[in-house]
Amino acid sequence: MPYFSMVSMLSLTNKRILLGITGGIAAYKCAELTRLFAKAGAEVRVAMTQAATEFITPLTMQALSGNRVSLDLLDTEAEAAMGHIELARWADLVLVAPATADFIARVTHGQADDILSTLVLATNAPIALAPAMNQAMWADTGTQSNLRSLRERGFHIFGPGEGAQACGDIGLGRMLEPEQLIEHSAALFEVGELAGLRFVITGGPTREAIDPVRFITNHSSGKMAYALAQEAAAAGAQVTLISGRVNLSAPETVRTLDVESAEDMLTAVMENISDASVFIGVAAVADYRPRLQAEEKIKKDGENLTLELVKNPDIISEVAKLEPKPFVVGFAAETNSIVENGKEKLDKKNLDLLFANNATETFNSDSISVTAITPDNEFELATANKNVVAREMLKLIAEKVKG
Ligand code: C5P
Repeated sequence: MPYFSMVSMLSLTNKRILLGITGGIAAYKCAELTRLFAKAGAEVRVAMTQAATEFITPLTMQALSGNRVSLDLLDTEAEAAMGHIELARWADLVLVAPATADFIARVTHGQADDILSTLVLATNAPIALAPAMNQAMWADTGTQSNLRSLRERGFHIFGPGEGAQACGDIGLGRMLEPEQLIEHSAALFEVGELAGLRFVITGGPTREAIDPVRFITNHSSGKMAYALAQEAAAAGAQVTLISGRVNLSAPETVRTLDVESAEDMLTAVMENISDASVFIGVAAVADYRPRLQAEEKIKKDGENLTLELVKNPDIISEVAKLEPKPFVVGFAAETNSIVENGKEKLDKKNLDLLFANNATETFNSDSISVTAITPDNEFELATANKNVVAREMLKLIAEKVKG
């Protein structure tokens, strides 16, 4: 991922990393991981599950981290030195590497039956998991559903990588290499132009169900929204991306919530908008949905079929009505009178900034040309790749929001 190779290791200086180790063969890589964290200027404390001690010794981890290793929740001596709640508060980042399927399941259910799961439950620091397991265990629906729920709760999931596994299988499930884990961790501490700002971004198309197998949708690819989310996160913003079904994946630093219909999208936006500094509505929200959703597949009985459509909520207008409201940025994909129609939309929806573009050129394309429209100004941005244009858009937003 080229995005991560741009991350500077300097952001790890003086950071307090609580490294959790669970019982997988990749645990042996934690020796190197600890050494690299120390080299980058971070302080490391280690907590291990009982099973992890079968793969790498606490003594090795103690020697490399320079700190006593936490092994037991009920160890009176260790609790007297630095209690588990104190340790949970001490951390700037909790990284569990390797994170086994069992540990992921226990954390999903909020269990606290050993030192490491207790620390994960007790900390307010960001938590990252580096899964490592057999490819079939990784692909299992139970594991995937646990990970989805953890992502929604804000956990960062680093990897896994693909390749040959200790058990002889080949596939997804290898723990990322220590260098990659260091880069991902550093990225979480990157501060940039947008540090301290919380963004909520909608993207992609919505799907409006007709019956259990059919729906109304559009050609939106989600590329612009994903580019904005990725670039905003790289510039230090905390980003929640609320996305319709697309064929893209966002970087780990972006919290992504998947939705289907316009109504689902509105609910997700409203649940996540409090404290947001910026809302960007990039989604191509269906303007109408079928009034009724047939419970069974509609049969082709007659020559004609009439669908009655009703208006969907206008998500961005709902956000612009909030008190206090975030800085609201809209998009307008038009086929004619692009700037005039854009201005009208800015006004009607009470937006702070709108990017108007040509719908026939934009959908599914990698590049984009847009006109930025504010209540008192308008100008064109240079045509370029969506990531480059996203950076220009974010620069403009940062200027407006930070004043
Ligand atoms: O009215 P129109 O669909 O052209 O407006 C486009 C802008 O409004 C985009 O920012 C889009 O994400 C947003 N929008 C919305 N909810 C709708 C329709 C559009 O948030 N129902």
